[in-house]
Amino acid sequence: MILDKKFEKEILNVSCRAALSSFYFIGKKDKIAADKAAVDTMRSELNKIDMKGKIVIGEGELDEAPMLYIGEEVGNNNGPELDIAVDPLEGTNFAANNLPGALSVIAISTKSNLFNAPETYMNKISANVKENNVVDLDFSLAKNIDNLSQYLNKKPSELTACILERPRHKKIIEELRNLKVKIKLISDGDISGALLVTDKKYNVDLFLGIGGGPEGVLAASALDAYDCFFQGRFIFETKKDKLRANEMGIEDFHRKYNLNEIISGDSIFCATGITSGDLVTGIEIDNTEFISETLITHKSTGLKKVIRIRQKI
Ligand code: FBP
Repeated sequence: MILDKKFEKEILNVSCRAALSSFYFIGKKDKIAADKAAVDTMRSELNKIDMKGKIVIGEGELDEAPMLYIGEEVGNNNGPELDIAVDPLEGTNFAANNLPGALSVIAISTKSNLFNAPETYMNKISANVKENNVVDLDFSLAKNIDNLSQYLNKKPSELTACILERPRHKKIIEELRNLKVKIKLISDGDISGALLVTDKKYNVDLFLGIGGGPEGVLAASALDAYDCFFQGRFIFETKKDKLRANEMGIEDFHRKYNLNEIISGDSIFCATGITSGDLVTGIEIDNTEFISETLITHKSTGLKKVIRIRQKI
C-alpha cells in the first residue's frame, strides 16, 4: 500500500505548525516549554487528519508523557491505518538557547512498517552508499574508513565523519583523528547529523555514534527515500529497558537492524526548521504570516526536497 499524496501536504502542515509553536520559546531558556508547545500543536494538528494513526515513536511511555506517547491513537479515525513517529522538538538545547539546528520532525508510514522502538540509545551509522558491506556497525572503524574511501574514491584525509560530541565517543574521535579523517562534531541533533550524508553539498561522508533510538528511526525513514545506507543497534542497559524491549517483541538485545528492518513500505518524512541549521532555515515571522522551510521526502513518489512555504499564523 502506498500513502496518498494528500498526506504530503497534511504532514508538512503538522510539522510547520509545530515548529511555529516552538519558535515562540526560542532563547527563553526553557526546554520543557519549547517542547510542550511543539507537542501540543503537533497532536492537535494530527487529530484533524483523516486517518487511524498510531504513535510508534513519541514522547515516551504513557506514564511519562501525557501526549503523543507510544501507542496513542491520533487522527479522526476516518482513514487508513498509519504508523507515526514524532520528535516535535529535536534539539531542545538548541531551542532553549537560540542555537542553530532546532527542528520539528515527523514521519508516517503505512501500518506496521515503522519500527516500534523503545526509548533507549542506539548505535548508528549512515552513509551515501547503496550496497551492503561497505560500511557496517560490525566492522572496525579502520575498515569502514578504508572501504568508504575506496567506494567514494577519496583518500581517508578527504573524508568527513560527523559524530555527536560526547565523552562516550572519545575513543572513536581519537581514532578518526589518527586515520586523518576530517571530523564534524555536533553538540546535539543527530537526526540532522545522520541526514548530512544525503547530499554532497553538506560535505559529510559518514555519520556514526551513539544517540537516541527514536532519532535513529526517524532519520532512517528519510534516508530510505534517499536510498542511503543506515544501520542501528539499540542499547539496552537497564532491566527496565530490557523488559520494555521484550514487551515490544525484541528478544535479541544485541541485534543490528538494517534500514529496511526499521522502515519498510511507503513513508513520508518532514523536518521543519525552528532555528536555522545545516538542513533548513528557521521560522520567519512576517506580520500575520510565517515562512518555514521543511525537508520533505515521500518514498513512493520520489519526492525529496526542501520546501519553503508561507502560511497564515
Ligand atoms: P533532545 O531534543 O531530546 O534534547 O535531543 C537532542 C539529542 O542531541 C538528539 O539529537 C540525540 O539523539 C540525543 O540528544 C543524544 O542524547 P544525549 O544528549 O543523552 O547524548
